Amino acid sequence: MGHLRINGKSYSVDLEARESLLDVLRERLGLTGTKKGCDQGACGACTVLVDGERILSCLALAVQYEERSVTTIEGLGADGALHPLQAAFIEHDGLQCGYCTPGQICSAVGMAEEVRRGVPSQVTGDLSSESIALSRDELRERMSGNLCRCGAHNGIVAAIAETYAMEAGE
Ligand code: FES
Ligand code: FES
Repeated sequence: MGHLRINGKSYSVDLEARESLLDVLRERLGLTGTKKGCDQGACGACTVLVDGERILSCLALAVQYEERSVTTIEGLGADGALHPLQAAFIEHDGLQCGYCTPGQICSAVGMAEEVRRGVPSQVTGDLSSESIALSRDELRERMSGNLCRCGAHNGIVAAIAETYAMEAGE
């Protein structure tokens, strides 16, 4: 029997060694907010947070995440209220069909934390600087693993930029 901690709740699950975290979330625990797009690490729809870091749950074996703290889109808001980024997605029309949205939001929460920790990206110019300014280029680069087939990217970028008070220029 395996034990998973998801959104602050403990779950005892009879885990099979080869089951992905994504399949366990969706098929065994009924947490269908996390989406399956490509199931091979290419689209970002399945992004969740583990101990605050974003991972692709379709590429993660559930057994590797026992006793870690997993957060899915269902667990981001507090006390029935939306997370500020969820509210910003609505305000900025950062979605159309909504299929990519849970992954976009979880990914952006993890991304903002990476920036706070000073983790550079491919486009970070000054690696010696203590803080990284999250320009639109940085934001786009850092969110490039999350695809949106509806083309809602402008709204997605606007929602993330507003929530994390980023530089507005191109
Ligand atoms: S479903 Fe995991 S990256 Fe596409
Ligand atoms: S809103 Fe439809 S795929 Fe992004």
